[in-house]
Amino acid sequence: MAQNEIDLADGLMVDVVGPWASEKHHGLREYIRLASGARASFVPPTGTGGASYIELFSASGRARIEDTTTIIDGSPLVAYRAAHASGVRFSDLHFNDIDPEKASALDARLRSIGGVAVVHNKPAAEAIDDIVYALNPSGLHFAFLDPYNLEFLSFELIEKLARFKHMDMLVHVSVQDLQRNADMERYCVPGGVFDKFAPGWRRVVNRQQAIRPFRAALMEYWLAEIRKLGTMPAQGAELVVGSRGQRLYWLMFVAAHDLPQKLSPAFGPKRTSGPV
Ligand SMILES: C[S@@+](CC[C@H](N)C(=O)[O-])C[C@H]1O[C@@H](n2cnc3c(N)ncnc32)[C@H](O)[C@@H]1O
Repeated sequence: MAQNEIDLADGLMVDVVGPWASEKHHGLREYIRLASGARASFVPPTGTGGASYIELFSASGRARIEDTTTIIDGSPLVAYRAAHASGVRFSDLHFNDIDPEKASALDARLRSIGGVAVVHNKPAAEAIDDIVYALNPSGLHFAFLDPYNLEFLSFELIEKLARFKHMDMLVHVSVQDLQRNADMERYCVPGGVFDKFAPGWRRVVNRQQAIRPFRAALMEYWLAEIRKLGTMPAQGAELVVGSRGQRLYWLMFVAAHDLPQKLSPAFGPKRTSGPV
């Protein structure tokens, strides 16, 4: 088994990520900055419901950009620092990663910068129940869902979060995964990846079409199912492209109000909107 890499700054393990991770973190930072006014009305002295931050796939909190020696903050630290900088912190932080070493590194890192979080170490499908149980039903919450691939982005996770009246979500949908795997038996078989990602797709999406329209139809179906939860996905997904122009992933804001629509133009220059 490969040895985990260590950040010499703190002696804890680091993840290794592509250069586009910074783009993803930019979107996260922007949401947290722009939502600070809304957050303020849920936390003292104005409000009492609280404002939680949630990640089900949090990783270790620090990451080296592949092919470089640059180490950057992972999304949990980005989120924590962005809230701090906005002047309106989250009232509570809930993290989870299936890897115990990552979960414990994250816990230590957050503590070292003054954050106190509940860090779970379970499959996301189990951690979600612990996390939603701990949330104040009248709070304003924000979940960043950032799995490696579609396999773990089960619709059930989004459904459970969307039961809260004020739940904003930023969801990473792996387009690479769709491009590579849409035709793979494992994704399409009953009980396979697409049945978890977009339950019921088979009734609506014709499997016998070319890969490109199939992918577009699957994503349309997924968005329609998200809307049925009473949430509003942002108009036009933000597609993050790689350095060679390859389509990497969508960052999709989902919320029960129109903040995501306002956020779309705030995305950085490397992003484009459009069909998968
Ligand atoms: C893309 S990384 C998250 C990166 C992080 N959001 C960031 O930007 O720094 C995905 C993480 O999901 C974790 N993971 C994989 N399968 C999981 C599962 N079923 N449940 C929870 N975590 C899982 C991996 O260990 C990995 O750390």
